[in-house]
Amino acid sequence: MVTAIIRPEKLQNVKDGLKEIGINGMTITHVYGRGKQGGLKFTTRAGEIVVDELEKTKIEMVIEDDSLVDKAVDTIVEYAKTGKPGDGRIIVTPVERFVRIRPEPPKGEQKPSE
Ligand SMILES: Nc1ncnc2c1ncn2[C@@H]1O[C@H](COP(=O)(O)OP(=O)(O)OP(=O)(O)O)[C@@H](O)[C@H]1O
Ligand SMILES: [Mg+2]
Repeated sequence: MVTAIIRPEKLQNVKDGLKEIGINGMTITHVYGRGKQGGLKFTTRAGEIVVDELEKTKIEMVIEDDSLVDKAVDTIVEYAKTGKPGDGRIIVTPVERFVRIRPEPPKGEQKPSE
């Protein structure tokens, strides 16, 4: 499974990039997190303000075609990148089982959209 934690404003870009390489199935969650910098610090007249939970967007994708995993990672990097701190992280993990709840229709009766 490929889990990507990206900037929320890059979600549409990343979805478009993934669609181009044939990846549609994904779970999207709006999350909070922090990385190496431990959030953001602002200096105001009232003193220093630390925001240590930043809004991020998590995309989880089970990619059944193994040969597409590296391509998906590269695509996410390409489409999510700004080059500034906070661009996100990508985690690749093994999946034990991935079960579709709706049964497959018999061969020959399947339309491309199914
Ligand atoms: N070690 C970690 N474990 C789990 N989630 C993490 C970890 N590091 C970062 N994240 C998640 O990734 C999000 C984005 O992190 P971020 O891009 O700031 O990582 P970073 O390591 O600080 O890299 P950069 O230096 O580019 O900012 C965080 O808000 C958090 O949700
Ligand atoms: Mg960071």
